[in-house]
Amino acid sequence: MRNIKKVLIDLNNNKKYFIKDLDDSFHTVNGVISKEDLQKNETLVKSDKGKKFVVLEPSFVDLWENLKRGPQIMQQKDVGLVLAKTGVNRNSRVVDAGGGSGSMCLSFANVCKDVYVYEINPEHYDVIQKNVQAFGVDNLHLKQENVYNGIIEKDIDVINFDLPEPWQAIGTAEEALKDGGFLVVYLPNLTQVQKFIESCKGTRFRVLETLELLERKWKIQDRIMRPEFEMLGHTGFLTFCRKF
Ligand SMILES: C[S@@+](CC[C@H](N)C(=O)[O-])C[C@H]1O[C@@H](n2cnc3c(N)ncnc32)[C@H](O)[C@@H]1O
Repeated sequence: MRNIKKVLIDLNNNKKYFIKDLDDSFHTVNGVISKEDLQKNETLVKSDKGKKFVVLEPSFVDLWENLKRGPQIMQQKDVGLVLAKTGVNRNSRVVDAGGGSGSMCLSFANVCKDVYVYEINPEHYDVIQKNVQAFGVDNLHLKQENVYNGIIEKDIDVINFDLPEPWQAIGTAEEALKDGGFLVVYLPNLTQVQKFIESCKGTRFRVLETLELLERKWKIQDRIMRPEFEMLGHTGFLTFCRKF
């Protein structure tokens, strides 16, 4: 059962609110939205100050923005690239380890058939469990297990590793993946990338590419048109491999 019932957007300042209780009116700086307005199926409503708001059903992106955070998550720029470069779809069966806060595995669950998630840390496991509940997904199979001890699923389409020593799971990943399947490894340091690539030698994994994405927003307002001063720079390196 999702804990966010509606999303409220203040059209006067573009501020977004997550509504968890539809049995109470909601107070904002631009006035109160009545519970009746929150409950009915109308998009455009007005506060008691006559200010315009939008009420929406929460989308995946709204839920993602409200993700409960434990360990560092994979950012949308990296999540998007993993989905695009592996071509996962509604028939895909995917393994994700470690689950962390659930950013990557929930994004897989949004488009794939089944997602098997290994998370060793009991606190992080609890965070993912709460997020799974908040998203209301039923195709994410969460296990509190050490992936280095083995992946039991077989015939998997894609495996994603976001953990410190992926080379410890390379053998089990090789057994779990189907021919032509993708192994994606997300690592913050090039020294780790180098060690991982070394560990692929003698396996059936062909390393396709290692890359990072930098995200720079632009300020576009009247005659101002320039990059923002701050950007989302280095988060991690993504290494894409394929089993042949
Ligand atoms: C950086 S977080 C992953 C974040 C996640 N990709 C996300 O998008 O939210 C790394 C996680 O790997 C878990 N982990 C580390 N070693 C593991 C192992 N051997 N088996 C399973 N999980 C492991 C850690 O407990 C931690 O939660």
